[in-house]
Amino acid sequence: MPLINWDNSYNLNIAKIDMQHQKLVRLINELHEAMLAGKAKDKVGTIIFSLVEYTKTHFNDEEQIFDKHGYPGSFAHKQEHKRFVNEISKFSNDFDKGDLMLSMKVMNFLKDWLVKHIKGTDKNYVSFLAAKGVK
Ligand SMILES: [Fe+2]
Ligand SMILES: [Fe+2]
Repeated sequence: MPLINWDNSYNLNIAKIDMQHQKLVRLINELHEAMLAGKAKDKVGTIIFSLVEYTKTHFNDEEQIFDKHGYPGSFAHKQEHKRFVNEISKFSNDFDKGDLMLSMKVMNFLKDWLVKHIKGTDKNYVSFLAAKGVK
């Protein structure tokens, strides 16, 4: 059973964004499975690294869409992105140094953050961008 079950309630109906969100969900599920399977530290570290990098890619793409269309909620949204990137980058570094273990607490933090962000903060831009013809 995956940690996050993707269903229609996650769809924002913007094709590129939905695809990227699905990939983030896949990476978090992969990390969860690696943790449960007791995978070696370097394997887990590689998945964490991919998650951090892909999160940055997704946030950049989203922010470019905001800038292109003058989304009024952009500033606060970008702040939220920045805080999360800082947190997971720190987590990734601490993990590599052996200062932090992957745990259900960490997994639930990742899950809760992503789900809340997609269904709350991201959902807020949908009607604005739809009105601009973004799909
Ligand atoms: Fe976002
Ligand atoms: Fe997003």
